[in-house]
Amino acid sequence: MSKTIRKAVLPVAGLGTRVLPGAKTVAKELLNVVDRPIISYAVAEARAAGIEHFVFVTGRGKQALEDYFDHHVEMEAQLKAKGKTELLEELLGELPRPGEMSFIRQMQPLGLGHAVWCARDVIGDEPFAVILPDMVMDASVPALAQAVEAYDQVGGNVIVVEPVPESETHKYGIVALGGESGRLRPMTGMVEKPAKGTAPSNLIVSGRYILQPEIFDLLASQETGAGGEIQLTDSMVKLMARQDFHALEYEGTTYDCGDKIGLLRANVALALKRPDLGAAAREAILALL
Ligand code: UTP
Repeated sequence: MSKTIRKAVLPVAGLGTRVLPGAKTVAKELLNVVDRPIISYAVAEARAAGIEHFVFVTGRGKQALEDYFDHHVEMEAQLKAKGKTELLEELLGELPRPGEMSFIRQMQPLGLGHAVWCARDVIGDEPFAVILPDMVMDASVPALAQAVEAYDQVGGNVIVVEPVPESETHKYGIVALGGESGRLRPMTGMVEKPAKGTAPSNLIVSGRYILQPEIFDLLASQETGAGGEIQLTDSMVKLMARQDFHALEYEGTTYDCGDKIGLLRANVALALKRPDLGAAAREAILALL
């Protein structure tokens, strides 16, 4: 029986250059999608998958992110005094239980692999999840819960993937798969941002991972890869020689909120789906066309 996934790493130390100038002073993970920050969607998704401890890897200028998950005493008092109990309950409902969150500083944004490695002592010797919060995944069964379910079946390492058009594959990490068909398939390889026309499939690594702790030994070498960054992909490829990896094609829709158009799409799509805002959002959007 596979060990339970209790902890998740949420790397949030990237510079967010694709969403500048907004991300200059506000962490991109705090940019709003409809009425809540991107990070709030990631934490809700992790909770729904049974995660009990959230390990944020943060960087310079990201303190507001930590504050988001703490009491705002004056605001709470104001809302209470004005009888805005529903809003108050919503704010309080997002707060973690004491001790449930850890914040680790990645002192230089050297790459995703380096960010994950920074969490090694808090994760310890157990399998764990990685969530890239800027990939907002809208799904009836939350994406990480789908990954945990797959992990419970096959164990080892599970990578959530999704198809993109062939012309887009050079922008992403791409997986290579064995001959089987179906949504959960053994992986045979992985390549970060392959040159055009060389991708082994059209399935991209979409920002949710379940990894075994042995990944930390490989990340420790601090070797740089594509773009001069310490890539998580490179260590996963090395671990693949020793451990099983499966790719899970999840059911849902991904919005890359680290990208201007992706962020816009997420705002429009999720506003349209909201029972309290959908009709007004539709009217406002149609009026612009
Ligand atoms: P991205 O590829 O989106 O990089 O990182 P970025 O630096 O945040 O954004 P751009 O490309 O400059 O616009 C994927 C995830 O890994 C985290 C990011 O915060 C994001 O959640 N990351 C990346 C780190 O935590 N540290 C790093 O050194 C790099």
